[in-house]
Amino acid sequence: MSDQIASASAAGPPPGMAVRLSSNESPFGPAPAALEAIRRAAAEAHLYPDDQATALRERLAAHEGVEAARVAVGTGSAGLLMDAVAHACHGAAAPGVLAFEQAFVVYRLAARNAGAAYLEAPTAGPASGDEDGYARDVGALLDLVDADTRVVLIDNPGNPTGAHLTGEQLTALVAGLPEDVTVVVDEAYHDFATGQRGYATVAELGLAHPRLLVTRTFSKAHGLAGERVGYVLGPPGLVAELDAWRVRFNVTRTAQAAAIASLDEPAHVAACIRGTLEGRARMAHHLRGLGVPVTEGLGNFVTVELGEPAGPVVEAFAGHGVGVRPLAPYGMDEQIRVSVGTPSEVGAFLAAADEVLAEVASRR
Ligand SMILES: Cc1ncc(COP(=O)(O)O)c(C=O)c1O
Repeated sequence: MSDQIASASAAGPPPGMAVRLSSNESPFGPAPAALEAIRRAAAEAHLYPDDQATALRERLAAHEGVEAARVAVGTGSAGLLMDAVAHACHGAAAPGVLAFEQAFVVYRLAARNAGAAYLEAPTAGPASGDEDGYARDVGALLDLVDADTRVVLIDNPGNPTGAHLTGEQLTALVAGLPEDVTVVVDEAYHDFATGQRGYATVAELGLAHPRLLVTRTFSKAHGLAGERVGYVLGPPGLVAELDAWRVRFNVTRTAQAAAIASLDEPAHVAACIRGTLEGRARMAHHLRGLGVPVTEGLGNFVTVELGEPAGPVVEAFAGHGVGVRPLAPYGMDEQIRVSVGTPSEVGAFLAAADEVLAEVASRR
């Protein structure tokens, strides 16, 4: 698995695809005000950014309804996740990191960098018929907790399966964890999950645990993946400790300015979320109609069961100019993940799928 981890960021379709549905980005782009803010901040590219990101943290605190001491920002939420794991494992003799099977690949990278053992709680099988797959079982994860456990990482919903814990399940999980274990709930995709299938955010649930952190990002619904900015919410003492671990000046001037401007343009974000949900449902419905099992999940992508090695299928889509994501780094050799695109990109993908996946389905 370690070779696969090393190549995780390189794995993917060939570059230069006309339709890029391989990276869970927003196909709708940043808010116009965010682009304008980037242009203005770019003129000050010779100046270091505000190391404390004060304006952004205050804007986020207002947005989330918490005090600014509960917010820290990072180089994408991936940067914060790496720091959170390193911080929680520091000084432990044999630190353990727990997550569900098929969790976001960065968790494994973070555990490796922290010299920690990485343990995965088994999940249910793949999609079949019209049913999503990869359901998560809180009891299976709690069974893995022992005295060495330093961090539990929950992508809710997860990537690459879109699987989620309901509010009830998440409450039970947090209640079952010792107080000295850091719990990180990664809500990168929460915008695409809200109000569906029992999903609830940590804030909606009002969960209390002395070491509970929530990470969020501007890379998905805000369409700012290229700017690399995310944030963490948690108890002030823990947030301050974590903030002391980060690379200094880690969020650029353009990223800080863009994030603030995007928070001020909620109509754009809401339209992107609506467009994503429509595209996700359209993709799942169409693929199921072809006889291909799909996990629609609650992210901005669907996970497709091929029942055969993904490599040739990824190449076949590339032949149609459509980039989709193979999932070998997740140990999922017979699945692909396809991000939601604009309506015309979804149309191009589905037209290609009518050829590529209809053939796959006929071989099943
Ligand atoms: C579950 C999950 N968490 C976090 C991230 C990281 O996002 P970023 O570092 O862009 O904030 C991703 C990116 O795809 C993700 O899938």
